[in-house]
Amino acid sequence: MNTPLTDAPDRTRSQPDHSAVPATSFFRPNGARKRLSLTQLYNWHLKPLVWRLFHPGGSPEEYYARMISDRVLRGEHPAIGSQARAVRAPTELLDILLTHGLKREHVVVDYGCGSFRLGRALIEYLAPGGYWGLDVISEFLESGMALLGPELTAEKRPNARVISAESLAETAAAKPDFIISWHVCSKVPPARLTDYFGKIVGLMGPTSVALVHFPEAARRLRQSRFSWAENRAAIAEALKKVDPSLDIRFTPITEVVVRGVRQTMVEIRRRH
Ligand SMILES: C[S@@+](CC[C@H](N)C(=O)[O-])C[C@H]1O[C@@H](n2cnc3c(N)ncnc32)[C@H](O)[C@@H]1O
Repeated sequence: MNTPLTDAPDRTRSQPDHSAVPATSFFRPNGARKRLSLTQLYNWHLKPLVWRLFHPGGSPEEYYARMISDRVLRGEHPAIGSQARAVRAPTELLDILLTHGLKREHVVVDYGCGSFRLGRALIEYLAPGGYWGLDVISEFLESGMALLGPELTAEKRPNARVISAESLAETAAAKPDFIISWHVCSKVPPARLTDYFGKIVGLMGPTSVALVHFPEAARRLRQSRFSWAENRAAIAEALKKVDPSLDIRFTPITEVVVRGVRQTMVEIRRRH
C-alpha cells in the first residue's frame, strides 16, 4: 500500500477529494464543523506568544525546534533523533534527486535536515564534502552526527550548520547543484513562508535546482499545533515575493489524498 507521506498522524482511512476541504477561519481552522478547542487556542496561539515574551528575538522556527527538542533528545520523535523513521523510504531524497540528474560529485543542501533521517542516504552516495545539512538548532545536527557514526563521518565529511547569515553565505559559496527541503515547509507558519523560501532561493546559483516538499490542500489547513497544509497559490505567492522571475513547477509526490491533503513538491529554478 502507498503510505501517505505526512508527519501528521493518519486519523482516517477516507480519502476525500480536495474540494471537500471546507473554508478555514481563526476559530474553525480545520473547517466549518470543527471549533478550535481551548487547548488548541492555548497551544496554537497563546503559547508561542508566551514563549516569545521569555525569549525576545526568538524566531517561530526556533520556537518549533525548542518545543520538540526534549522529545528528540529522549528518542521519542518520529522524524528526528534515534527513533526517527522515514515515512516511505530512507532513500526518498536520493531517489528523487537521481531522477533529476544527481551525480556523485554534486553538492546537495538538505535544508531543515533534522538528524539526517533522509540525508543519510545522500551522505552515503555523494563524494566526501558534497552534503550540506542545515537546521535551526545544533542539538538536531549533533544527534545526526552521532547516529551517522565516526566511520561514515570521517569518510564522507558531511557539512552540518546551524542556519545563520554566515552559514547561509558559506553554503551558497559551495555552489549547490541541488537544495532539497523535505517535511519542513509544513512546519513553517504561513507568515514565515517568504523568509523560508527567501533563504532557500538565496542558496541557489544560476543552475541550482531547489525541490521543496509541502502538504497540499485546496485551502490553507492547520493540521496540528506545528503543521500546515497550503495551496499552490500561497506557495507561488511566497516565491513571487522572493523573486518574481523564478521558474516554478508543482509535481505530486504521491497521488494519495488523505483528509483533503496530498503530498506535493515545488521545483524552483532561476530563469536564464
Ligand atoms: C519534521 S523535521 C524533518 C527533518 C528532515 N527534513 C527529515 O525529513 O527527516 C522538520 C525540521 O525542519 C526544521 N525547520 C523548521 N522550521 C524551519 C525553517 N524555517 N527553516 C529551516 N528548517 C526548519 C526543524 O528544526 C526540523 O529539524
